[in-house]
Amino acid sequence: MEGFEFTQRLKEVSDRFVDQLGEHFYLLADRFDPATLRHHTLFPREMTWYYGEPIWHRLSEEQKLMLNRLCFCQSYLSTGVAEVAVNILNMESALYTILRGAPEVALYMAREVVEEMAHVQAFLKVIERVLDFYGLTLDDLRHANPSLRLAKTYVNAHTLLGWLRGDLHYYYFTRFALNVNQKTVERSIIDEEDVHPVVQALLKNHATDEARHMQMSRATGIAALRQMRHPLARTLACLGYARFAASIFIGRHNRDSRLTRETRIRTLELVGVDRETAERAYAEWKNRVNQPQDPPLVRMGRLYFLRCNFEYIDDLPVAPWLKRRMKRTIFSAYTDLQNVAGLQTAPEVASQHAARGH
Ligand SMILES: [Fe+2]
Ligand SMILES: [Fe+2]
Repeated sequence: MEGFEFTQRLKEVSDRFVDQLGEHFYLLADRFDPATLRHHTLFPREMTWYYGEPIWHRLSEEQKLMLNRLCFCQSYLSTGVAEVAVNILNMESALYTILRGAPEVALYMAREVVEEMAHVQAFLKVIERVLDFYGLTLDDLRHANPSLRLAKTYVNAHTLLGWLRGDLHYYYFTRFALNVNQKTVERSIIDEEDVHPVVQALLKNHATDEARHMQMSRATGIAALRQMRHPLARTLACLGYARFAASIFIGRHNRDSRLTRETRIRTLELVGVDRETAERAYAEWKNRVNQPQDPPLVRMGRLYFLRCNFEYIDDLPVAPWLKRRMKRTIFSAYTDLQNVAGLQTAPEVASQHAARGH
């Protein structure tokens, strides 16, 4: 299929590692013993929700560790659910693609599905053991994570669009933002000293696979946009992408939805904080009352997310005004970065700033 030759190279890389999926994921996760948790974290410490807030300082050391580990569980339960959602759309894309006579491209799409299932299996194994360690169940976690249902909306919306349009171009075009978001967490965890070694190894292996999945969404996204012949379809896809990208990030974000808000509050309740205090703590944290600036690791993550998105936008085959508009939309959800070392409001400045590695 014209424009998708790069999948051949990605498949060759995947072929080299496919036999090790068990060793890299579910067999590795099987070696995770919660009795060895001791002082170990499971998530970048500074990325723990409420880190550095007054409520954080009121928690005991054990509660801080529990919050950190539950952040891992929530984040990777959401990731696992999103990966299953993405798999459905990948297989739908594979169907469209094989029907159009490009079996090689379809096979690589299906390969990513196999890889994602190995990831999900490994994450669930670790999550269930961590929950068991705290006397919690997966139902407790699900109840505290109402934003999981967004995955269903995402699949239904793209399936409907795909059915109406006859292709999954919109899906592939928007998937990139999800990949970048995930990579942001994993590149932060690589240098953390206290993370449990088994989980750290698991997340490094995940980062390796996801770097390739990200190349797939980036290249496929650009190719998909190029194949949208009607200018209106392209413009709508670009505006939709910008809105979608502006709405996601780990941690606090001024576009947090009601569902995200509930997830953050209920997780704090699981640690032993009463509802009223948890609601107040969330409002202060989210509105940047006590800490207008994020901790350095989180700020770096936010800049990385912006940089990857801006570079993606720069490479899109659309008019400069539309690129500027997309960057403005995403940047408007990242106003906290305006205060970083002379950073101006113009998205181009953010792009340059991030490209220098700050
Ligand atoms: Fe994955
Ligand atoms: Fe992936």
